[in-house]
Amino acid sequence: MSTTHVDHGQWSSRLAFILAATGAAVGLGNIWKFPYIMGENGGGAFVIVYLLCILGIGIPVMIAETLIGRRGRQSPGNSVKALAIEAGANTKWSVVGWAGLVSGFLILSFYAVIAGWAISYVFQAGAGNFNNATPAQVETIFTTLLSEPSTLIFWSTIVLLGTGLIVGLGVKHGLEKAVSYAMPAMLVLLLIIAGYAAMNGDFGKALHFMFYPDFSKLTYSGVLIALGHAFFTLSLASGAMMIYGAYLPTSTSISKSVLAIAFADTLIALIAGLAIFPIVFGNGLEASQGPGLVFVSLPIAFGQMWGGTFFGTLFFIMLSFAAFTSSIAMIESAVAWVVEHLGLSRMKAALSTVSILWFISMLTVFSFTGAEWAKLDFVFIGKHVTNYFELVDHLTSDVLLPLGGLATAIFVAWVMKKPAVKEEVDMYETTFSIWYFTLRWLTPFAVSFVFLNLVGVISF
Ligand code: PFF
Repeated sequence: MSTTHVDHGQWSSRLAFILAATGAAVGLGNIWKFPYIMGENGGGAFVIVYLLCILGIGIPVMIAETLIGRRGRQSPGNSVKALAIEAGANTKWSVVGWAGLVSGFLILSFYAVIAGWAISYVFQAGAGNFNNATPAQVETIFTTLLSEPSTLIFWSTIVLLGTGLIVGLGVKHGLEKAVSYAMPAMLVLLLIIAGYAAMNGDFGKALHFMFYPDFSKLTYSGVLIALGHAFFTLSLASGAMMIYGAYLPTSTSISKSVLAIAFADTLIALIAGLAIFPIVFGNGLEASQGPGLVFVSLPIAFGQMWGGTFFGTLFFIMLSFAAFTSSIAMIESAVAWVVEHLGLSRMKAALSTVSILWFISMLTVFSFTGAEWAKLDFVFIGKHVTNYFELVDHLTSDVLLPLGGLATAIFVAWVMKKPAVKEEVDMYETTFSIWYFTLRWLTPFAVSFVFLNLVGVISF
């Protein structure tokens, strides 16, 4: 079914899709978020749950989302609607698509602020500010950044404006080509840093922390965070994979592409951990210090290592780039929707979308600067939140993404007709059966179980 109301174009090849989707997947989630949530949730056991979530839930849902996009060929809500009509089901299922669009939009409201930190660190590193700095001095650089609203606003504005312009101009394809250089470069850089960390930090302790599973340190909320992060890091339930799937040529194998993307994404996250934790333990830093982890640990290494100014600057350039290729994926579906429904040009649609986001991003900026009005103090769906950033992060990663993934799994495995699904995914019989079974039973059961337990409906 390739009827299209608005022609959004197509990827030129399978590789273009893989690069774009890898660009969306690899980002701050791998290098900033994964290490710090691992640190907060006790290491090894969390990593195992995370890997199981990627394998048993993330990959199957990623295939499901991409197939919805490709068969529907429109913005997420409209694609799901078209497929619901095809299956003779209620068109209200389109909420699955809308929810993703809203999640992607909300995620960008805080993602842009963190991406702003990464860009500001390009200049910090370039100016040699980390050279021979003590851990305490590096921490001061970070806390100073967080204490200056104008700096944070400046960099987040640059990120949002840049994202809006890239999406508006439709120059994404050029950017995607750059992914083919930037991702291997990022991998090499991370390996260099990990090599340095292995020799100069406490590598043994880091390995033990990351890979020795101490299940007594794992809480139910930790399991939910691992699950939510599996969705976050693969860009699921955020509209991104559906809209990227919508541009995918029919001849491309969805499952093979998805496996390649998930593998690259997981590899980068694990190596980021191996680069960061030896430095954390070697310098007596706190593994559970939260969102500042990578911005405090790696600069210490850059300050001491040979060629640190060069490697540090390059690293933060790569991180900023990775953040941009993820940011554009987050609003692509919102922009496609505005183009389809409000008839605006791409540029106007993109710029108005990021303008609204700019206001929402202030909630995150002022959460980090510690403004009184941005402070919160209540339990929201199983988590005690202390500011707006924590609220939006928790609402998206731990609530909307898992529920969106659940709804996607149910839609594809229960609502869509099996022959239609089969036709779209093009898998061998056994692989199809395993995937279909997982999506039909395991994914809904696992997500509901973890979620219901967190909100206290069931208790184990
Ligand atoms: N996967 C991205 C990361 O790990 O940084 C985050 C992300 C991108 C989430 C795109 C959602 C999305 F639509």
